[in-house]
Amino acid sequence: MRHFLLAGTAALAISAGMARAEESVEVLHWWTAGGEAAALNVLKDNLAKEGVAWKDMPVAGGSGVQAMTALRARVTAGDSPTAVQMLGFDIRDWAEMGVLANLDDLAEKQGWGNVIPAALQEFSKYDGHWIAAPVNVHSTNWLWINKAALDKAGGKVPANIDELFALLDAFKAQGIIPLAHGGQGWQDGTLWEAVVLSVGGPDFYKKAVLEADPEALGGDTMRTVFDDMTKLRSYFDTSFSGRDWNLSSALVIEGKAGAQEMGDWAKGEFLRAGQKPGEDFVCIRFPGTQGSVLFNSDQFVMFEQDDAGKTEAQLKLASAVEDPAFQIAFNTVKGSVPARTDVPDTDFDDCAKKGMKDVVEASASGNFMGSLAHGYGQPAAVKEAVFDVVTQHLNGQITTDEALKRLPEAVAAAQ
Ligand code: GAL
Repeated sequence: MRHFLLAGTAALAISAGMARAEESVEVLHWWTAGGEAAALNVLKDNLAKEGVAWKDMPVAGGSGVQAMTALRARVTAGDSPTAVQMLGFDIRDWAEMGVLANLDDLAEKQGWGNVIPAALQEFSKYDGHWIAAPVNVHSTNWLWINKAALDKAGGKVPANIDELFALLDAFKAQGIIPLAHGGQGWQDGTLWEAVVLSVGGPDFYKKAVLEADPEALGGDTMRTVFDDMTKLRSYFDTSFSGRDWNLSSALVIEGKAGAQEMGDWAKGEFLRAGQKPGEDFVCIRFPGTQGSVLFNSDQFVMFEQDDAGKTEAQLKLASAVEDPAFQIAFNTVKGSVPARTDVPDTDFDDCAKKGMKDVVEASASGNFMGSLAHGYGQPAAVKEAVFDVVTQHLNGQITTDEALKRLPEAVAAAQ
């Protein structure tokens, strides 16, 4: 309060300085891989320019499973972080508890409603109110291929799953790991949902995954999915178990593996390594899924605070995230595409240009569908139930017959 006693410009300068010093955000996130951290730095730098101090709370672990566990512990201890990276149904769960800050005024002022796709707004808004600021659109049905290995195999990208198996055979013959996969529940789930889409098509994905239809979950099409998963498993290396996704990307980058099925955050790793799309690596939709997009979107939610400085900083963070220039600077590094539909694709590389076009096309045809593995298909309990069955099957602990029996049962029990 001492500055109130001072007069003139000196007082103003000190007061502004103090106000800025009080503004800080503590951000809980899981962006710890090279490409992810580089993208996050764009946001940190932008906020620093606004005078907002950044307290980092990184919790490593792809797809945020560990981050969500850490969050629950913090909230239970009465010490919520100010801002949290969050996905889909988790956002809804926290909104339901009434602990998230209302962003309506900012959203109104900046016209978010006109530029954020309706499918994202379903999760960014709760009960008609904005409670999350979407950063990007990621999607999971991608395949990342080492270009030299592909050329050696004849250069043709696979258009369906049988052509994928043929390409993986060619990689095997080259003496490299055909398919780089990391055995973690969420990664198994990410591969599985791409195979579900490829084998069954978008209507089957909707029935089995989005509607959790018991017959679709235990029927003949799903049998083919599990059989294909078993086949894909035969192309993994022996140390796949537990491996982080970015280490699998590194195998493809280094030419030790031919391909990886992964969301487009993988591109962030290729770019970080100085690789260029079309020259060093090739990005295609997972064979057989062209025309559909399994999306996820990183969003920031703000936990309500009773400190004015923190509230102000939260709004600055949300505002910075929706700035079109930030959407370009961040997403070109991260591998995702903008959450805003009004951002031009000029500054984006060919993979992202394709990604943006795919989002528009899939939205128009009704095949822009939430990724189960990344929180946009079903609430967390159902997602985890699917992961359990898929992982046990992939690891050979249960047969395809058992998986087909257990999957509908486990999903029903989790609902
Ligand atoms: C996703 C998230 C991405 C990326 C990925 C791997 O769930 O949306 O931003 O971080 O996990 O960690």
